[in-house]
Amino acid sequence: MAILVTGATGNVGRNVVDLLGKTGAEIRATSRTPERANLPAGVAVHGGDLAHPETFADALKGVDKVFLFPEPSGVAGFIEVAKNAGVERVVLLSSLAASMPDPQSNPIAMMHLVVEQALEHSGLDWTFVRPGAFAANTLQWAPSIRAGEPVRIPYADSAGSPIHERDIAEVAVRALLDEGHASAKYEITGPEAISQRRQAELIGAAIGRAVQVDSLTGDKARALVVEQFGGYGPPELVDTLFALMQDPAPAVVTDTVQRVTGHPAHSYADWVNDHKATFGG
Ligand SMILES: NC(=O)c1ccc[n+]([C@@H]2O[C@H](COP(=O)([O-])OP(=O)(O)OC[C@H]3O[C@@H](n4cnc5c(N)ncnc54)[C@H](OP(=O)(O)O)[C@@H]3O)[C@@H](O)[C@H]2O)c1
Repeated sequence: MAILVTGATGNVGRNVVDLLGKTGAEIRATSRTPERANLPAGVAVHGGDLAHPETFADALKGVDKVFLFPEPSGVAGFIEVAKNAGVERVVLLSSLAASMPDPQSNPIAMMHLVVEQALEHSGLDWTFVRPGAFAANTLQWAPSIRAGEPVRIPYADSAGSPIHERDIAEVAVRALLDEGHASAKYEITGPEAISQRRQAELIGAAIGRAVQVDSLTGDKARALVVEQFGGYGPPELVDTLFALMQDPAPAVVTDTVQRVTGHPAHSYADWVNDHKATFGG
């Protein structure tokens, strides 16, 4: 039987494919544009759009486990197609936002909870991987850094606990391959709370050239959030992200990566080292 990786061209999905490949598992991957997927030779890539679950009938033949990208619009149909194909286990890329106490006020939480709740009622075995902010979000600083320009950051002294996409993928792979992860909701973060300003400093240290930070507050910070995220999701998304950036509460740090994989989560400095070429290093 094969394991199907959806979102296989994404930050996390590529790592899931890579890690599964090292185990000798039979892997199948999907993309909405399979001809451009650029996945390792030997991985069968099929077309599939989660917003149109019927497109998965072919990719799901002979599959018993799925790594699922969280697309809410077609999830009920996807579950039906997957069950008809004989799928037994789904490991979902969800979000730490789904763990918040009042998710109704947060469109990011709600979009992931729609998918989680559909799986909870599906009769399939499920595991939810709920990462906090990805370290990869800071790739958006790369064009400015490569150009030698200051990086504009809203509330640069606010902290996060950025997680390496490889750690997210490794937790997912353990849940796909091993027993004992059914019905787990894994809240995963990087190993430390670290300010955005310090993250920029660490990029500078890795590329051997100081990174200047232009910390924006108030209306200027909000305008930057609109510029960066206004095109994604519902209009309330900007409000939610802006509120999060102003939140003085310390960043949540969990030890879930250590507990599930047996090693500590990679630090932000580790992540920078793995991506320094993108920043011009
Ligand atoms: N960024 C964060 O801080 C953060 C934190 C917590 C959770 N998350 C979750 O992680 C997701 C991002 O993961 P990522 O960084 O690995 O992805 P990514 O690099 O942003 O790439 C998006 C992936 O999703 C696939 N995709 C998008 N819509 C699809 C659809 N309708 N049907 C099938 N595939 C679809 C794309 O595949 P093709 O284009 O090849 O079809 C691509 O592989 C977010 O959307 C969110 O749900 C993110």
